[in-house]
Amino acid sequence: MKVRGSVRVPGDKSISHRALLLAALARGTSVIEGLLPGEDVKSTARILRALGAGISPVRAAGITRATGARLTAPAETLHCGNSGTTARLMLGLLAGHPFAARLTGDASLRRRPMRRVTEPLRTMGARITEEHGDALPVSIRGGRLRPLTYDSPVASAQVKSALLLAGLAGKVAVTVREPHRSRDHTERMFVHLGLEVRERDGAVSYQPSAVSPQGFQLTVPGDISSAAFVIAAALLAEGGDLVVEGVGVNPTRTGALVVLERMGARVERVNLTAAGGEPVADLLVRPAPLRGTEVRPEEIPSLVDEVPVLAVLASRAEGETVFREVGELRVKESNRLELVAANLRALGGEAEARGNDLWVRGTQRPPRGRVETAGDHRMAMAFAVLGTVRGAAVRLSERRSVAISYPGFFSDLRSMGSGRGAGAET
Ligand code: S3P
Repeated sequence: MKVRGSVRVPGDKSISHRALLLAALARGTSVIEGLLPGEDVKSTARILRALGAGISPVRAAGITRATGARLTAPAETLHCGNSGTTARLMLGLLAGHPFAARLTGDASLRRRPMRRVTEPLRTMGARITEEHGDALPVSIRGGRLRPLTYDSPVASAQVKSALLLAGLAGKVAVTVREPHRSRDHTERMFVHLGLEVRERDGAVSYQPSAVSPQGFQLTVPGDISSAAFVIAAALLAEGGDLVVEGVGVNPTRTGALVVLERMGARVERVNLTAAGGEPVADLLVRPAPLRGTEVRPEEIPSLVDEVPVLAVLASRAEGETVFREVGELRVKESNRLELVAANLRALGGEAEARGNDLWVRGTQRPPRGRVETAGDHRMAMAFAVLGTVRGAAVRLSERRSVAISYPGFFSDLRSMGSGRGAGAET
């Protein structure tokens, strides 16, 4: 296909969750523009309403008003749907509140590890009961917390953010150190709200202060993790160019752009601005021939959600690509490490999980076959992108899951493409 015109991807998922959580804790009403109207963010909004916060409906391209409250015990189990961010960050927030709550999620989320947050939250003093080992459902009773200094074994923004939220809600100091720096949206939003958070010697510290956060105004930038899919489709196109407007380009999230540059692509950043303490730019993309690369372990946190789509691009590049130390992908919405490789093979490509590395060899043969998405939104979008190359015949097991993070994905993919082959077959 050829690409043309411009696309505006929906609001950043990570920032959307954090904006709602902080608004629920703030005094007064917050006005949030451009919140992602995806299923995951709706799960966070629904749970915060069940805890007593006032949150207007989350609608596409709209303004959401969120009114903080003294949160109270929920009448029913809190359902986090498919959203790991909702579950983990909510546990942090609940740890600072003196009531009991039970959290669960869908089948995918009930397979994902929770001890990475429940263990340090227990150390802080939260009482947590698990029903099935390291997974949801769990019950939590928060209350008086102790300060915490924690060395996290995983580079996870969800762990770091859960602990910072526990510190904020429970009014205790928290310091978190991680093996590699993860996305810093929570830290930036704390600063936006006038809260005291510092980074020193690679550790992030929150210090409680007497002032509680007040209602705020925030514009959520476009999600670079969603932009990655349309950027990838533009890189694989046969001509034209594409502008992706208003994308958040926080350096803790732009690892995919760095890797793409090494692969031979140029994604230009123009019209640089800022919103809510986050850098924002329009991204200009042109099709480019790609070559394989090695993605290093320390780069992974800055592109962790982009590995499926980068692997898809690697499958069209010249030579081999290796993603080092991506074991974390096994515990995402699906086992992305195994599933990406299996799907590339199902389409006639060469790819495999080698221990904790993901290895892919590029080919110019058209991808043909059936892809199992396992209900994972990023798997569906990554392989739909592969379905746009000339001669492709890619059938997805389902496509509804894109509503998790990018409800308008298929219509954006169609609208940016001209000529045959845009979009997947299903
Ligand atoms: C997220 C952090 C990442 C990412 C997820 C969103 C966040 O997870 O994969 O999609 O909003 O904090 P980890 O923190 O588990 O790496």
